[in-house]
Amino acid sequence: MAMNLIGRSFLTLKDFTPEEIRYMLDLAKELKRLKQAGIKPRNLEGKNIALIFEKASTRTRCAFVVAASDEGAHAEYLGKDDIQLGKKETVADTARVLGRMFDGIQFRGFKHETVEDLAKYAGVPVWNGLTDKFHPTQVLADLMTIEEHYGYLKGITFAFVGDGRNNMANSLMIGCAKMGLDCRIVAPKGLHPEKELVDEVKKICKETGGKITITDDVDKGVNGADVLYTDVWASMGEEAQMQARIKLLKPYQVNMAMIKKTGKENPIFLHCLPAFHNSDTTMSKDIGEMEVTDEVFESKHSKVFDEAENRLHTIKAVMVATLGAK
Ligand code: CP
Ligand code: NVA
Repeated sequence: MAMNLIGRSFLTLKDFTPEEIRYMLDLAKELKRLKQAGIKPRNLEGKNIALIFEKASTRTRCAFVVAASDEGAHAEYLGKDDIQLGKKETVADTARVLGRMFDGIQFRGFKHETVEDLAKYAGVPVWNGLTDKFHPTQVLADLMTIEEHYGYLKGITFAFVGDGRNNMANSLMIGCAKMGLDCRIVAPKGLHPEKELVDEVKKICKETGGKITITDDVDKGVNGADVLYTDVWASMGEEAQMQARIKLLKPYQVNMAMIKKTGKENPIFLHCLPAFHNSDTTMSKDIGEMEVTDEVFESKHSKVFDEAENRLHTIKAVMVATLGAK
């Protein structure tokens, strides 16, 4: 289907129709195939991309840098101490300056309003590389990984287990609803998503045939799941709440018992990463396994590194779609 997303910002999947999301997924698949064949189409030759990061990143930053380079664009990393954003200069002023110099801007940070303001004032496409509220480029990679594995999306049973009110849960609900999946958010009552967003997601489901269930009951939530998904129990900026979250979320850990509870022979396990699955990092050394056991993380069910690789192809697709292929 002919589709024109040139000039559009990418702030949340709410702003895109199922057909537009399909277009970006198909483009990502094609760009992955070309890369694997050693073909670099250089769709973004001569473009300049600004990458603003208030928070740390491995996958998102590297995906933008490598995608830009593969397509012939230059990417400039602007860390939180490198620019004046929000400190000495308003977001609106920074946006207008960067928009005069760059062809596209990626933002990762805290307030979702910041990325909205950048998009409002920059005059060039702005891409959300994660805010406290949403992480839409991750969801494109997740959908691509599910489709690569199962061959389709509509009707897949998808269970997100963990902090049901974080940026991943919010964005996954939207992405699943848009593409017609049966989505369950499995979380303790205190960590359920906001009613307003759930209502919006229900409306989307009515149009697409998707389903949304919010439950604190693990057995019910994961029963029949083709995909089990989790994320860290305390997101960036919420580290002080880690101990309280561990208490609350321990029964929601993805382990082999939970894999069995799906009742499926071979469900897949996904995680946006980084993950606490052993005690080998400075942050997990005293706690060890948290949201997922090492056994599941390292098992045949786990597709987390396919998923991480797909960040590159999907982010490339978002940039090519919104900046224009040559
Ligand atoms: N999944 C993800 O966004 O990873 P990074 O925080 O490393 O970018
Ligand atoms: N919910 C996590 C996602 C990291 C990719 C966070 O915001 O830290």
